[in-house]
Amino acid sequence: MSTVLEAARPAIATPRAAPLIAVRELSKVYPTAKGERVQALSHIALDIAEGEFVSLVGPSGCGKTTVLRILAGLIGDYAGSVAVRGRAHCGPSREVGVVFQDANLMPWRTALANVLLPAEVLRLKGQEARAKELLAMVGLAGFERKLPGELSGGMRQRVAIARALLHDPALLLLDEPFGALDAMTRDTMNVELARIAAASRKTVFLITHSIAEAVFLSDRVLVMSPRPGRIVEEIAIDLPKPRGLDIIADRRFADTVVRIRRLLDGEGTAQLPSIAH
Ligand SMILES: Nc1ncnc2c1ncn2[C@@H]1O[C@H](COP(=O)(O)OP(=O)(O)OP(=O)(O)O)[C@@H](O)[C@H]1O
Ligand SMILES: [Mg+2]
Repeated sequence: MSTVLEAARPAIATPRAAPLIAVRELSKVYPTAKGERVQALSHIALDIAEGEFVSLVGPSGCGKTTVLRILAGLIGDYAGSVAVRGRAHCGPSREVGVVFQDANLMPWRTALANVLLPAEVLRLKGQEARAKELLAMVGLAGFERKLPGELSGGMRQRVAIARALLHDPALLLLDEPFGALDAMTRDTMNVELARIAAASRKTVFLITHSIAEAVFLSDRVLVMSPRPGRIVEEIAIDLPKPRGLDIIADRRFADTVVRIRRLLDGEGTAQLPSIAH
């Protein structure tokens, strides 16, 4: 097992192919209401390749959502650069679809009408057939006319995923999308997300508190330090795909989970802030 000091050495979390997303020297300071400054991110570098599934894990408050919101174009005030296919990324973009922890559906709109929302915002016509196809892809064929209140939590998140894919973004960003679900539903949703990512051939960037979820789904897992967040280790998950839940019993799966757990807990995390960039 590599030590944390060794792990901190690579400056860039590198993919194996040409990057869809390239982040360099990304730092973010939030001004607070009291006039103080919160350094949320410090000199982050990461690449995400086309078609890759990358997860980001780290302690609460380390800046994961901040990274995601910058990639989504929802935060523009930062230092460093974010490029999509080599072009500077600024502001919300059609290249990106986002799913948050709360499905955030409009309760008065049917599942289908919720999925169609981006079409209205982006003034895309004739998207109903695609919206129905996406609902079928996320396992909700026949639920098109249901209201969110008539759907389970897992079903609502499926609608949110279908909605995020409607405008055919290159990159799907997910921030703790299954955090509010019970453990069994979450397992099912993990299998579903793996299938959806493969079927839609999307590049996926997932933030999660579940190390097992990250290892199960990802090609690479990036581990962040406590605030100010930096990426201190990237771990390639060389388990064959497609993966079923039985992989949890695989020794390599368990070893990888333990390795990430140790990085996050104690073994090294106390030293992380002192590691020079
Ligand atoms: N709008 C804001 N104004 C001021 N500080 C903020 C703002 N948003 C986030 N922060 C601070 O920036 C840091 C990183 O926040 P962020 O939400 O990115 O963390 P996180 O890793 O997603 O945490 P969690 O795992 O709890 O969701 C935190 O210390 C937080 O208090
Ligand atoms: Mg967060």
